Amino acid sequence: MNQEKVIVVDFGGQYNQLVARRVRECNVYCEIYSYKTDLEKIKEMNPKGIILTGGPNSCYEKGAPTCQKELFELGIPVLGLCYGAQLMMHVLGGKVEKAPVREYGKTEVKVNTASPLFSDVSEKTICWMSHFDYISKVADGFEITANTADCPVAAAQNTDKNLYAIQFHPEVLHTQEGTKMLYNFVRNVCGCSGTWRMDSFVENSIKEIRKKVGNGKVLCALSGGVDSSVAAVMLSKAIGNQLTCVFVDHGLLRKDEGDEVEEVFGPNGPYELNFIRVNAQDRYYSKLAGVTEPEAKRKIIGEEFIRVFEEEAKKIGAVDFLVQGTIYPDVVESGLGGESAVIKSHHNVGGLPDYVDFKEIIEPLRDLFKDEVRKAGLEMGIPEKLVFRQPFPGPGLGIRIIGEVTAEKVKIVQEADAIYREEIANAGLDKSIGQYFAALTNMRSVGVMGDERTYDYAVALRAVNTIDFMTAESAEIPFDVLQKVMSRIINEVRGVNRVFYDLTSKPPGTIEVE
Ligand code: XMP
Repeated sequence: MNQEKVIVVDFGGQYNQLVARRVRECNVYCEIYSYKTDLEKIKEMNPKGIILTGGPNSCYEKGAPTCQKELFELGIPVLGLCYGAQLMMHVLGGKVEKAPVREYGKTEVKVNTASPLFSDVSEKTICWMSHFDYISKVADGFEITANTADCPVAAAQNTDKNLYAIQFHPEVLHTQEGTKMLYNFVRNVCGCSGTWRMDSFVENSIKEIRKKVGNGKVLCALSGGVDSSVAAVMLSKAIGNQLTCVFVDHGLLRKDEGDEVEEVFGPNGPYELNFIRVNAQDRYYSKLAGVTEPEAKRKIIGEEFIRVFEEEAKKIGAVDFLVQGTIYPDVVESGLGGESAVIKSHHNVGGLPDYVDFKEIIEPLRDLFKDEVRKAGLEMGIPEKLVFRQPFPGPGLGIRIIGEVTAEKVKIVQEADAIYREEIANAGLDKSIGQYFAALTNMRSVGVMGDERTYDYAVALRAVNTIDFMTAESAEIPFDVLQKVMSRIINEVRGVNRVFYDLTSKPPGTIEVE
């Protein structure tokens, strides 16, 4: 891609993807690379700027992640954040040592607004600090541009060489003017003009897909989730009915979801493509009968998906390209991008290529973060309802029903979940909570309804806020909203007489219940 770009050099800190996302919010394309990346490779990429991230180590310790001094001599502006700031000083001859006082949390920082980095920033501004080492002496040629009560060097700069160091984390929203600081760096210091926009991304991608595919046949496994939907629409705009989408309804979708997907992508929808819906509900329920162990359930659901898809693909015959909805965090997390360990193995992607006769994979969203996928979706006119759909796991309701999955239990959880989602939307909370859903516990208890004794299931409501889905906090939902959901579920969903709200964070819990 011929884009002006900034690169993020990853030293293993927890906010690294966030740095890249914030830079992209300034309309500047940004990619993450491990600190082990060769300097030559970095030069070849010709970045307009380099950002060194935070990290958990002490830069003066033996074996700590480091970088070559030459990185600071390329004539490319460099911004070091937290560990990156300390490393910059350490490598260039300043001094970093254990701080007498560890700083953690929101901290008032006094900045020199004459610094290009702090242009338009308030003189006293709240920033997010998280460090146990500190810069006790800046390297030659640097001047101090910010400090706190406990931290003499909260920021420093060498404007002759375009080197900037910040001890705090501008990428975190707790740093109130952090986005402005990053904007100042990428747009003003690095001189990026801001060409990264979703409208031009969509336009260019469509052109590239057309060129790549030619007259070829393309197959896409459509789940109805945001990523595969956006990928499918992009392909359909590029190559029309050379595309076939296979949508497997495994009977573990949310209420009415199968029909909604068909409405958009099926023959009556606005897109030109071949759409195949496979109603495999009964097949799934019979495979899942009597199975209670979560991993066994996941395996069955995953394998069955491949079987069904394979059967459909065979009917279509050899295809030239297979579409996958891989997005940038998948690339980073699978170890191809930054420094993060391989964390997830449960993506929808993977698996399929071994089973389908195709020549090449197309991953049109490979460079995008989730929020950018959504923007691209809106740009192409995909309905908001679909674009802002909750993340939904491949195994679907199968892992939101504790224990055995039956058609009856699926119905219960679908109804309860639909009520929950409706009320969350009514309360205007639908776009502010990361992920929320109803699950069915495996517990039945005694209740009373009218004058009758009941012995029914308990539904658990879950709502979490999360940055990266690796950790999560339960969301605070007003009590009256929860009460309304509870009373509607009890009244409207047969087979339920108790509703719980799950307060567990992740860790120790996971987001899904199985
Ligand atoms: P957990 O339950 O692992 O969920 O805390 C983290 C995020 O991943 C989603 N999830 C899955 N997504 N296939 C998927 O495509 C799966 O098997 C799967 N399991 C969990 C979950 O919804 C949450 O967003």
